[in-house]
Amino acid sequence: MGELLKLIGNTPSVRLKRLVELYGVDGELFLKLECFNPTGSLKDRVALWVVRRSLEEGLLKEGMSLLEATTGNTGISLAFVGALMGHRVVLVIPEEVGVNVKRTCELFGAQVIPSPGGNADMDVALRLARDILESEPGKFLFLDQYSHPSYVECSYRWLGPELCEQLGGEIDAFVDVYGSGSTFTGVARCLKERRPDAKAFLVEPAECPVVSKGMWGPHVVDGVSDGFIPDNLELDLVDGVVLVNTEEVIRVTRELAELEGIAAGPSSGANVAAALKLLKGGFARRVATIANDRYDRYFEHPLFGKARRGTSLGPKGPAPLESLKKLELLWRRERAPALVDEAL
Ligand SMILES: Cc1ncc(COP(=O)(O)O)c(C=O)c1O
Repeated sequence: MGELLKLIGNTPSVRLKRLVELYGVDGELFLKLECFNPTGSLKDRVALWVVRRSLEEGLLKEGMSLLEATTGNTGISLAFVGALMGHRVVLVIPEEVGVNVKRTCELFGAQVIPSPGGNADMDVALRLARDILESEPGKFLFLDQYSHPSYVECSYRWLGPELCEQLGGEIDAFVDVYGSGSTFTGVARCLKERRPDAKAFLVEPAECPVVSKGMWGPHVVDGVSDGFIPDNLELDLVDGVVLVNTEEVIRVTRELAELEGIAAGPSSGANVAAALKLLKGGFARRVATIANDRYDRYFEHPLFGKARRGTSLGPKGPAPLESLKKLELLWRRERAPALVDEAL
């Protein structure tokens, strides 16, 4: 086993005092630095967990390749873990995703296959991955981050307990963006089991409010809110949704670096902006969230003043039918989730 795999996990949690002061809010904000994993993102944990699980279960046999559809971090982490564990990795990545991501995957020896569209077109990438899977039966193990239960198990058994223990179990609220939904689901479930009155809030880009409003649209929080509700996002755990807009995401991502020295990507800024909104609105006093990845994946992103190509921002239409069906139950339930939409 590669020595670097031992460096995955056990990431620090820090308190963001200066940002809390800047916004004049009451309470404490903790950030778990998953960007300190070896390739710089939260996905190193899941990649290692899922590959190990697949080996234990006999699903991944010698000579088989790993196949995944991804917009970035999962791909980089799988390429890294695959290289160290001796498995070839094939990744379907939408063609509008930044070149940094693709080159990094290739640097670890993975094969990148482009699919049409951008970050919000994961449905297209997933269809292509399934076609590749079916074209050569027995050759690939499709890891399927949006549905595979091992992704949730990893956050529930590894990341969640680590976070709860670091913060002495004293967290009122956990708030997080969702891509596959597995981090939110696993951590929220773990936290609520330990502290039943703790709340779990989802973060959504205001331009893509799928869970909160049933609408889809392109946005700048790369890697998350892919325009549908994945199976790994357990809606029953959602106590509320916090909306953050493009300007807030970019502003807070920059402030996180300038004031706290944490140079992270936009989904981390989205998480911190949402945590600040929860403190501001008095929804919690001790909030925890996650720094998902590093800044250096985003040199072509609006974070560095670059215009988004191929898309304009904002809701484009209703979410897919399957997602809308899941939502009907959520919004009709006795206590519908809170919507936190105050400007920061
Ligand atoms: C940058 C970034 N942040 C957050 C997430 C969310 O993680 P999850 O897939 O567990 O919902 C992802 C997922 O790929 C991501 O790439």
